[in-house]
Amino acid sequence: MGTTQHSFKPAEINPLNSLDEWEDAVLQRYPEPDSIAKEKTADQFRNYDTPERDTVREFYRLNHTYQTYDFVQEKRANYLKFDKKEMPIWEAFNFLNQLVDDSDPDTDLDQFQHLLQTSEAIRADGHPDWMVLVGLMHDMGKVLCLFGEPQWAVVGDTFPVGCAYSDKVVYPEYFQNNPDSKDPRFQSPTGVYKQGCGLRNVDMSWGHDEYVYQMMKDYLPEQGLYMLRYHSFYAWHREGAYSELLDDHDRDMLRWVKLFNPYDLYSKCPEPPDWKKLRPYYEDLVAKYLPATLKF
Ligand SMILES: [Fe+2]
Ligand SMILES: [Fe+2]
Repeated sequence: MGTTQHSFKPAEINPLNSLDEWEDAVLQRYPEPDSIAKEKTADQFRNYDTPERDTVREFYRLNHTYQTYDFVQEKRANYLKFDKKEMPIWEAFNFLNQLVDDSDPDTDLDQFQHLLQTSEAIRADGHPDWMVLVGLMHDMGKVLCLFGEPQWAVVGDTFPVGCAYSDKVVYPEYFQNNPDSKDPRFQSPTGVYKQGCGLRNVDMSWGHDEYVYQMMKDYLPEQGLYMLRYHSFYAWHREGAYSELLDDHDRDMLRWVKLFNPYDLYSKCPEPPDWKKLRPYYEDLVAKYLPATLKF
């Protein structure tokens, strides 16, 4: 028996100029509450007609077309073996940083800077240290790109596979192209799952959230694991969709996922934190919770 290996045309692998384009589009969809009133808004509306907008649209078209139930099973079987690489955590950040943004080297921060700004914003607000660590680790799963995964199998809003799509997922019209939309097993709101089964029993579209959750699942408290696993599940934590699949535990954990989201979206600042000064704190934090090496 063999698993289906998909092959994609070059144009279908990396439709975005950089992974940041997806995150910038999410930020436009959910602008920081304080900034809504400011003059920014006019520009943001105009941005819907820019070429970047089209790359994001194309990105979602590919994501919604190819993220099938079978595709997810194939990726889980491959990556959740964690047999690709093993490295100390600080080396892993260097590895992640190979994901450089060629399109806009002056304005965009590298991956590690985004992680550090997220974790520093969490720390500044006095949250528990494990949540600071969540901030530092939450996008580590983007190394999937360096293992050759297309952008749309690494980033993008996540959604359950194996059941009907919610129209609360961004660009829902592109789900028509997904063969699962014609599979009789997947047509009801619960699909292959049981009503109220809990998200832990639901397979999500494949991406950096699930991968980093699985990497960290033995080392962080449950609240932190929810933040990692569902931080890109906007249809749930921002739009309230997929209630048929939730159990009491999910409903209880939702506030933690919501607590994390603003730090991910709104902590970008042009001035990078002073890593030399911060390093001892983070070395202790990592040593407190994580093993000496991480498996990928
Ligand atoms: Fe992320
Ligand atoms: Fe992030």
